[in-house]
Amino acid sequence: MISLHDLRAKKERSERISMITAYDYYTAKLVQKAGIDVILVGDSLGMVVQGDENTLGVTMEDIIYHTRAVRNGADGTFIISDLPYMSFHISVEETKINAARLIVEGGANAVKMEGGSPGRIEMIKGIVDCEIPVVAHLGLTPQSIHKLGGYRVQAKHQEDAELLLKQAKEIEQAGAFMLVLEAVPEQLAKQVTAELKIITIGIGAGRYTDGQVLVFNDLFGLSDYHPKFAKQYINLALIIEENLRQYAADIKQNKFPETENIYFPYPDTE
Ligand code: KIV
Repeated sequence: MISLHDLRAKKERSERISMITAYDYYTAKLVQKAGIDVILVGDSLGMVVQGDENTLGVTMEDIIYHTRAVRNGADGTFIISDLPYMSFHISVEETKINAARLIVEGGANAVKMEGGSPGRIEMIKGIVDCEIPVVAHLGLTPQSIHKLGGYRVQAKHQEDAELLLKQAKEIEQAGAFMLVLEAVPEQLAKQVTAELKIITIGIGAGRYTDGQVLVFNDLFGLSDYHPKFAKQYINLALIIEENLRQYAADIKQNKFPETENIYFPYPDTE
């Protein structure tokens, strides 16, 4: 099992950390087989699994359900689970309970929380106090979609960049071990990485973070949304659609099932 210690050691050796989202058993199994360091059970599942237009409707039950499936497929991989919208906003007590549920019921190794406001800092401290490793998330934080007014690059202006850097330092002080930086200028991510001791992971944050994360579906063309920062390795959607058409045609033309797909004998005819 890859541990927090292993991830920190990678940073010390300047070895890049690989992370990808996964939401189900079989994908998680493939991710582990491929040797990817970390799986994120992200609340992006609200969009790419549930088909919602944002991540706000994802529940604790959803994240626990998908984390369990991912853990079943990847018993040796470090798994981070997202705390969904409003699961870490009400009180430190409720936040601690929700974080613990992702660990105990889901089987995650760590939890991730969006934001860096003073309110969030208290929640990070509370979770860390329960011996649960915390990942913070700054820049484009999808749970703030209505406040941000769209999925676009953040902290482009000096004042916003300074605020992000300040929040990143407070997050480190509060005890988080990792920080995800989403859709921010490369130079800012570079500066945050240089000034912090904790691990930084970028998504649309350029080349200088300690590691990279992408949404699984974006790599394989299995998404309606195509962010500039994502690299599509193959368009599986086309391949799957083509083969589904073939399957439907085979049924229509009585080409499926073939002899090899049928159980014999019954009754004793062979
Ligand atoms: O929910 C998610 O998948 C995420 C990543 C985009 C970092 O938070």
